[in-house]
Amino acid sequence: MREAIIVGNWKMNKNNAETQAFFEEVDPAAVSDKALYGIGAPFTDLKTALDNAKNLIVAAENVHFEDSGAFTGEVSVPMLEELGVKYCIIGHSERRQMFGDTDETVNKKAKKLLAAGMTPILCIGETEEEYDAGKTKDVITSQLNGSLADIPADEYKNIVIAYEPIWAIGTGKSASVEIAEDCCRLVRDVVRDMVGEEAAEAVRIQYGGSVKPGNIVEYMAQPDIDGALIGGASLKPDSFLEIIEKTK
Ligand code: G3P
Repeated sequence: MREAIIVGNWKMNKNNAETQAFFEEVDPAAVSDKALYGIGAPFTDLKTALDNAKNLIVAAENVHFEDSGAFTGEVSVPMLEELGVKYCIIGHSERRQMFGDTDETVNKKAKKLLAAGMTPILCIGETEEEYDAGKTKDVITSQLNGSLADIPADEYKNIVIAYEPIWAIGTGKSASVEIAEDCCRLVRDVVRDMVGEEAAEAVRIQYGGSVKPGNIVEYMAQPDIDGALIGGASLKPDSFLEIIEKTK
């Protein structure tokens, strides 16, 4: 049985004081035998988040695939490890669209994180244009083949894949429950084709895109949706608390 995992992605929001206040309010409620709850926070907030997290898991929102060197502005896996970070979002569509992340670099990041015993939360998903052109399956397949290339089947229990259709991110236009489930099932099918049944059953798949307190329960009821990656609705303690209360 896969453990559900519901993670907020704060993106480039919140300072340390706001992080502390959020964790003080939300962390005590984030206890459940059904799901893990967590927050992806900017690098500058990670220490504060970890210092105030008894229950919430804390994720970085990106990482570089080299350990050290002349990579101005980047942060490495050993640097995250030193802080005690155990999860890291990689390949978010905003990074793919604005900062040059590719399946190839995301693959290197995933391997580096796994080698350090950390859990990558790998984001994939198609654009609105690709969706309208019926290319969702092709896009998902090629992103998974590229981003997870050469990762052994027994690592998939330590991988979270976040299916986030770009047309549903920050738009309020969430994918219908049917589309979200179909695409998450497709992700599992592609993993099965790549590395086999056991890995496909073990990998946790999140849906992301305008998830909020009003729709989380329906998504979580789907057989292939094991969690959610939540942007806007993770920023306010009240709304993230409501999401926790509805799913715990
Ligand atoms: O990674 C989460 C995200 O991109 C979805 O954002 O605001 O639509 O929940 P939002």
